[in-house]
Amino acid sequence: MRIYQSEDYKSMSRRAANIISAQVIYKPDCVLGLATGGTPVGTYKQLVDWYKEGDLSFAEVRSVNLDEYLGLSPHHEQSYRYFMQSNLFDHIDIKPENTHVLNGLAKDPQAECAAYNKLIQDLGGIDLQLLGMGHNGHIAFNEPGDDFGLETHLVTLTDRTIDANTRFFDSRDDVPRQALSMGIKNIMNARRILMVVSGEDKAEAVLKAFAGPVTKEVPASVLQLHPDVTLVADKAALSKLVEAGVPVCG
Ligand code: GLP
Repeated sequence: MRIYQSEDYKSMSRRAANIISAQVIYKPDCVLGLATGGTPVGTYKQLVDWYKEGDLSFAEVRSVNLDEYLGLSPHHEQSYRYFMQSNLFDHIDIKPENTHVLNGLAKDPQAECAAYNKLIQDLGGIDLQLLGMGHNGHIAFNEPGDDFGLETHLVTLTDRTIDANTRFFDSRDDVPRQALSMGIKNIMNARRILMVVSGEDKAEAVLKAFAGPVTKEVPASVLQLHPDVTLVADKAALSKLVEAGVPVCG
């Protein structure tokens, strides 16, 4: 596990974008596992800038996203498909047919999940999976207590996650209660994992995930068992980990 400490959100985003662009340069047809949430927005912005400057091409890249709200259409402004289009896909040369996000309107969610697992397999697995982390240590929508052996599945969101995501909706009532999400097993099968975390409010979750016991109660703690994980975080997010004496790179 490598832990990189960045001064602030901007430098954290730049470093994460550097790692993703290195992956794309080394393997132009790589499979990127992509994430939503507020944290990766700066990373995507940096990638778009480098694309526009001609430093990077996504022409052969395939992508799979972690999760999607159940019941939201791809055109809903808070759907994760919409997020990916507006933050990344619409601004780079990735082929639309090579981008994959779970269908929140799937009539048969179980079948959608099974098809997504097969898709990931057919693509040859994920080369680099980008992750954010929730305040309760959730990754994608794998909530505390979820089984580590699960693949893509239907999830009922916890109150804490609904609270955290209310900021993106008009009201708490508008936040979907369920989602489709890759499981921990899909994430752990990725060849490399890159997690981005920012802010003091995540410091406790970072401490538990990376210096605490591996437990289902803190889903991100499972990453301690993965052979190739890079955590890129700002000083605030790493503050408690550093206090606890865990070594980090500058
Ligand atoms: C959502 C997403 C997660 C994301 C988390 C944290 O629940 N499903 O993939 O990591 O939010 O988001 P943020 O980066 O906005 O704190």
